Parts: sequence; structure tokens; C-alpha cells
Amino acid sequence: MDRPDETTHFGFRDVPLGDKQALVNDVFHSVAQRYDLMNDLMSAGLHRVWKDLMINALNPPRGDKPFALLDVAGGTGDIAFRAAKAAGPGFRATVCDINSDMLGVGRERAAAQHLDDRVSFIEGNAEALAFPNNAFDAYTIAFGIRNVPRIDAALAEAFRVLKIGGKFLCLEFSAVDVPGLDRLYDFYSFNVIPALGRAVTGDAESYRYLVESIRRFPRPEAFAAMLRAAGFKRVSFQQMTGGIVALHCGWRL
Ligand SMILES: C[S@@+](CC[C@H](N)C(=O)[O-])C[C@H]1O[C@@H](n2cnc3c(N)ncnc32)[C@H](O)[C@@H]1O
Repeated sequence: MDRPDETTHFGFRDVPLGDKQALVNDVFHSVAQRYDLMNDLMSAGLHRVWKDLMINALNPPRGDKPFALLDVAGGTGDIAFRAAKAAGPGFRATVCDINSDMLGVGRERAAAQHLDDRVSFIEGNAEALAFPNNAFDAYTIAFGIRNVPRIDAALAEAFRVLKIGGKFLCLEFSAVDVPGLDRLYDFYSFNVIPALGRAVTGDAESYRYLVESIRRFPRPEAFAAMLRAAGFKRVSFQQMTGGIVALHCGWRL
């Protein structure tokens, strides 16, 4: 139960904890139709490389061994599609996201790629998953966790729904510490990205939020400690592209 005076941040703004999810939902309702295009433009295609590295770490079975993936905050389905293409016939993915507009785009993409028999889409909140205990071989969350108001609750749910021996993978923006690159990255983030957002989606504010939320997300060491506190073992992380993103890994053992 939240305390009535409890606050969190929405980008650089402090907001009541109970208000954050609705604000986040407005952002993704606004950008859903252009979300995938904007990812390519903002990252110059690099998000594809980062996502492929996440799929390499997931390493789904190539054979017909059953393998159930839960991709939370899965949006338009990118991670689930990439995993399905890398995996064998025993693979099934469930994409769970709180936003019906993002899921709608994902369902259309799944049908267009003939992946709708292996990837299903379910509306739901990362903080309270409607799945039984010990149901999944792996849990992925890409560029999603920083949008979730109660990260501890989402991590506890991830742990609960994973089978013993199941793998947790989180791809998230991280902290750029490379001298020179940090200033360039700041300039690009705070000036270029909102302008690009305005030009492509008509919505600069949503992209300002996305940039600000990256800066408010815990540093990778602190997030690794949150994973350990949630019960995950063999927790590790790997920073990529000068620290722009980090891939976090943990196991339910
Ligand atoms: C930046 S997108 C990431 C989409 C996808 N994983 C990708 O990498 O392209 C963030 C997603 O998190 C979802 N989201 C935000 N809060 C959530 C919550 N509490 N539970 C589930 N999904 C949530 C949003 O609706 C949005 O689709």
C-alpha cells in the first residue's frame, strides 16, 4: 500500500507515486504509431544491435524443447519477435504491456511477420502480473523498467513468475562515463531527441520525458543491488556503447 505522501519522479518532475503510471501511459499512447520509426531514428539503428545482444544472452533453444518467454513492457513486440526468430519450434513468447496502443501495433506486426502463432500479447501491469508462480523459463524487459513506478514490485513479480533456473534479462539505458562522449550525449539527448520527437510524432514533451527518465534511473551497480534484494542470484551487468545502455542479468536459483 502506498503512503498518500509518497512521491516518485516523472522525468525531472517529482509527482505523487500514484500519478506516475497515468503520465507514462499518456506518453506511450501518444507515440505508439511512430514508436518503432523513432527508435531507429533516435538511436541510428543501434537499438537493433543492443536488442540482438540481449537475444544472444537469452540464448533460446534452437530445437523443439519447450521454452516460455515473458517479455514485460514488451510494447510493439521487438524482443519477442527477435527471440522467436532465433529460437526453435518449442518457443513461445508472451508480450505483456500496460498500453493497449503499443500492443495493437505489436499484434499487427506479429501477423505481418507470421509470428502470431508463437507470440501472444496480453495487457497487464509489470507490478502485478496475472500469471502463476514458476511459469516462465525467461523474463525479459527492454527499455521498460525505468517507466514502472514501483520497480521493487516489478522485480518481485519477475522473480515469482520465473521457474527455478529461470533467467532474468533487463536492457536499459545506463550512465555514460566516457569523457567527451558524456557531453555529446547530453547535447544530443536534450536538444536533438525532443526536436526529432516533435518533427516525427508532433510530441516533443514525450521525448523530453524519455530522456529525463534515463537520467533518473539508478546507476547499474545500484540496479544490480535491487536485483539481489529481489532474490536474484549470479547478478551481473554489461555496459555497451560507452555506457549508453546496460544489459542486466540474474537467475532464479
Ligand atoms: C520504451 S517502451 C519499450 C518497448 C519494447 N520493450 C522495446 O524495447 O521496444 C516502454 C514500454 O513500457 C510499457 N510500460 C510502462 N509501464 C508499464 C507497466 N507498469 N507495466 C507494463 N508495461 C509498462 C509502456 O507501455 C511501453 O510500451
